[in-house]
Amino acid sequence: MPKLLEKFKKYTSPVLGRYFPDLEIKGGKGSYLIGMDGKKYLDFSTGIATTVVGHCHPKVAAAVSKQAKQLMHICIGVALYEPYIKLAEEISKIVPIKNAQSFFCQSGSEAVESAIKLAKYSTKKPGIIAFKGGFHGRTLGALSATTSKMKYRDGYDPLLQEFYISEFDLAQVEQLMQSHSIAGAILEPMLGEGGYIEAPLEFVKGLRALCDKYGVLLILDEVQTGFGHTGAWFAAEHFGIIPDIMTMAKGIASGLPLGACVASAELMAKWSPGAHGSTFGGNPVSCAAAIATISVIKSEKLVANAKKLGDYLKKKLLELKEKFPAIKEVRGRGLMLGVDFGDSNIVKNILNYCLEKQLVLISTGADGTVIRFVPALNINKKQIDTALSIFEQAVSSPPSL
Ligand SMILES: Cc1ncc(COP(=O)(O)O)c(C=O)c1O
Repeated sequence: MPKLLEKFKKYTSPVLGRYFPDLEIKGGKGSYLIGMDGKKYLDFSTGIATTVVGHCHPKVAAAVSKQAKQLMHICIGVALYEPYIKLAEEISKIVPIKNAQSFFCQSGSEAVESAIKLAKYSTKKPGIIAFKGGFHGRTLGALSATTSKMKYRDGYDPLLQEFYISEFDLAQVEQLMQSHSIAGAILEPMLGEGGYIEAPLEFVKGLRALCDKYGVLLILDEVQTGFGHTGAWFAAEHFGIIPDIMTMAKGIASGLPLGACVASAELMAKWSPGAHGSTFGGNPVSCAAAIATISVIKSEKLVANAKKLGDYLKKKLLELKEKFPAIKEVRGRGLMLGVDFGDSNIVKNILNYCLEKQLVLISTGADGTVIRFVPALNINKKQIDTALSIFEQAVSSPPSL
């Protein structure tokens, strides 16, 4: 039995789903995880699209440790502190929303809750439209908008009222907007947990237009797509549209707990003081990590690296698709790429083979049929080639296929 597993089973709730029951690590550095026995694993999971500048980036670690010695907590409601304000200023410089203001929380789910609350509160309307295959989090509001795996919802009925799930179908969306009082429409520009499926360009543009027509706020959930993984700071840029509200988390602070709900000052002005809040949201240490993460992404030109190496990785994966009929589709953008096998057993075998060869890849999709490649933005070509070579061996190695 691996070292931690027995006590994990004894002392922690069994509710958590896990990709690899036996994988235990003691650390991480750059694009590598360090196993309990010192073994190095090439990490293409980034803790589910989170450690965007690699594990324990020295500049982020230094910022965290400096801030931890200065102030760990006070709550912004009690006193203002610089990292909270500075981070909001930095975010306003990288989002497509003009005069952007941020509300900070601790996770993607809370960012989504915040966006839903802002939409309802500011429009005084009850309804939310979400899209089939979307994942927005596990809290009850976010879960009401989540359909990536229906089992996430099982056992929690009744979920929140007035959540409507639509296909990527403008006629269906318009019909919902006509027949219900809709506050907001929440969309992942690329379904993350839903299998790395990008929303069609014309659909997203049409959705923006329908939101304008019916006075509905467009919420882009960029929790997984944000902070460079798609080869742009935010995926909104690929669609040439400006959302009313954006949610972000995951990559924002290199793994420290932080989420943000971002909207224009004009919209935020409709959210009265006290209508929402958080004790830990925008904690000084998490904000310091986020400021350092943004600074590293800028100084190391990592958005451009994600685009360049993402194009290279996608080209190579498409070549593998030509070679191996088991690969049904390669999709995604930047360093957020999915390889769909259409079969979860094949995927499980490949993931286990790769782990054996010290490459960590994880699955996604409603039925777990997709393998996602979501490495750190500062991954290098050699590391990508190593991962590709192991992946190719896995795909070609009988008897798994
Ligand atoms: C698009 C999206 N929104 C929201 C969430 C929820 O984030 P968290 O797990 O931090 O609550 C996730 C998590 O995977 C996500 O991918």
